[in-house]
Amino acid sequence: MNQFQTLGQFIIEKQADFPYAKGELSRLLRDIGIAAKIVNREVNKAGLMDILGSAGSENIQGESQQKLDIFANEQFISALRSGGECAILASEENEEVIHLSKHAKYIVAIDPLDGSSNIDVNVPVGTIFSIYRKSHDGPATIADVLQQGTFQVAAGYIIYGSSTMLVYTTGCGVNGFTLDPSIGEFCLSHPNLKTPPTGTMYSINEGNYVHFPLGVKKYIKYCQVEDPGSHRPYTSRYIGSMVADLHRNLIKGGIFIYPSTASAPKGKLRLVYECNPLAFVTEQAGGRATDGLGRRILELPVMELHQRPPIFIGATEMVQQAEVFMIASL
Ligand code: AHG
Ligand code: MN
Ligand code: MN
Ligand code: MN
Repeated sequence: MNQFQTLGQFIIEKQADFPYAKGELSRLLRDIGIAAKIVNREVNKAGLMDILGSAGSENIQGESQQKLDIFANEQFISALRSGGECAILASEENEEVIHLSKHAKYIVAIDPLDGSSNIDVNVPVGTIFSIYRKSHDGPATIADVLQQGTFQVAAGYIIYGSSTMLVYTTGCGVNGFTLDPSIGEFCLSHPNLKTPPTGTMYSINEGNYVHFPLGVKKYIKYCQVEDPGSHRPYTSRYIGSMVADLHRNLIKGGIFIYPSTASAPKGKLRLVYECNPLAFVTEQAGGRATDGLGRRILELPVMELHQRPPIFIGATEMVQQAEVFMIASL
């Protein structure tokens, strides 16, 4: 017997929290949930379908697109187009923005499939979404997409893992919903999700160590030093899907860092559809998200669609400690 509140019931009940409570944002979140369930179905049986491996094409990022990248992208475009509540969609997989419903109020930025390198090896992947409100009456333009992260009206992610979860915020805290496949509904399983103020887990691709800024190298050594009083050495956990690394750290307490590296001199992760939405969720859960030098991710000026900043995100005290090393090493 399902005793949990479904996403739809939760949205309707919380609609009073939406300053724009005419139902459009609720329907937009519903549309995202529908596409997520379709992507989840394919992810769960990927090994049995011709949906693994590369599609033989490259995206604007210069990445080899996986078949599931394209499938997921198409599902979200289709759901948002038919839902009618999205004026413009910006996607990792598309160089330009996609114009959908001309008179709609909302803008969506999406990473349709995060962690693509993990698809073929059955490691959790995710979807990340960010929602803005059009700032004027006329047709939406690229300027509506390039809004500062603090203007997001909602943001969240879906993690296709040992269970499938949808975690999101509208600025009134963070709530997590677990998909119950027996009824095809996301059910409230993590109400008012908060992240611990500190933790003992650090997530970073240490393969790039030689190219890290000095402050990052010093912080990694700090994590590795024996100090039982502060529960160090910390545990290193990094699986190459930002959503999965972030979700684990959000629940248990930890820090995720993707700094500048030789191959990604400004950082790898994209501000508009990875860093800003995950920073919004993290801050709403009581955590911190900056560029490593104390500048909030949500306040970074957004100059272009596929812009990349360094990101230090997770437990507040851990991010602050990493910033101490970064600033001292300038
Ligand atoms: P995407 O699959 O959407 O392109 O994102 C992959 C990102 C992120 O999910 C992950 O944390 C990071 O790339 C891993 O990068 P490295 O393999 O360079 O560590
Ligand atoms: Mn990619
Ligand atoms: Mn991604
Ligand atoms: Mn992606």
